[in-house]
Amino acid sequence: MAENRVVLRAENVRREFVSGDTTVEVLKGCSLEVLAGEFVAVVGRSGSGKSTLANVLSGLDRPTSGTVTLMDRDLSALSEAEAAAMRAREIGFVLQKDNLIPSLTIEENVAAPLVMGGTKLSEALGRAREMLAEVGLSHRAGQWPGQVSGGEAQRAAVARACVVQPAIVFADEPTGALDEENGRQVQELLRKLVSTTGAAGLIITHDRDLAAGADTVITIADGRLAGTERKA
Ligand SMILES: Nc1ncnc2c1ncn2[C@@H]1O[C@H](COP(=O)(O)OP(=O)(O)OP(=O)(O)O)[C@@H](O)[C@H]1O
Ligand SMILES: [Mg+2]
Repeated sequence: MAENRVVLRAENVRREFVSGDTTVEVLKGCSLEVLAGEFVAVVGRSGSGKSTLANVLSGLDRPTSGTVTLMDRDLSALSEAEAAAMRAREIGFVLQKDNLIPSLTIEENVAAPLVMGGTKLSEALGRAREMLAEVGLSHRAGQWPGQVSGGEAQRAAVARACVVQPAIVFADEPTGALDEENGRQVQELLRKLVSTTGAAGLIITHDRDLAAGADTVITIADGRLAGTERKA
């Protein structure tokens, strides 16, 4: 369960998009904290700003104003290169689909974040195979992403997101493109791997079961955090 160390903090985060002479304010001042090991679900209607929030919190996008602090470092104070290095070391990602690089085998995909961080290829592949065993995909290690099912691809994506033992794993509707059975498997593996890695998780989901299994549920409505429910 969660310790008290804050791994991610957002303070009064706003994000506007400008197109032509119209400005759309999508995030209207969001503040939150995610603790080490905490599994947070973010729920809200389509268009409420969930993906925008996740992009800003994970440093893929920058807020128009406000601050995002990851492991005590202000992301907006980092250069692009520093931010990329920080993401590689401290953050895992799972998206709704098309997570894997098609020209790499499944095990190479899972090893990629380690290799990018400077781990020797043979060692990275060894670690990737251990992670694939954890998600029940040892038999798919040498295959191409195009040869595996959607559920298998998402399980590999979960393995890849956790392989560097990041501080936090972000997942934007990781089960959204799967049927119920595969969605449940991916959800359970995500929860298990995030917890055994010691990472925090921030999961955007429409899936009631996934949200129900979280330590904390944050609801976003029209760009504002409308409620935080921390379970005992
Ligand atoms: N780059 C952009 N330029 C302009 N508007 C944008 C941009 N990105 C998002 N928006 C707008 O911001 C609002 C929130 O979008 P966002 O993708 O964060 O919603 P969401 O909660 O993730 O929705 P969904 O559940 O459908 O994925 C939407 O009205 C969207 O049109
Ligand atoms: Mg979205």
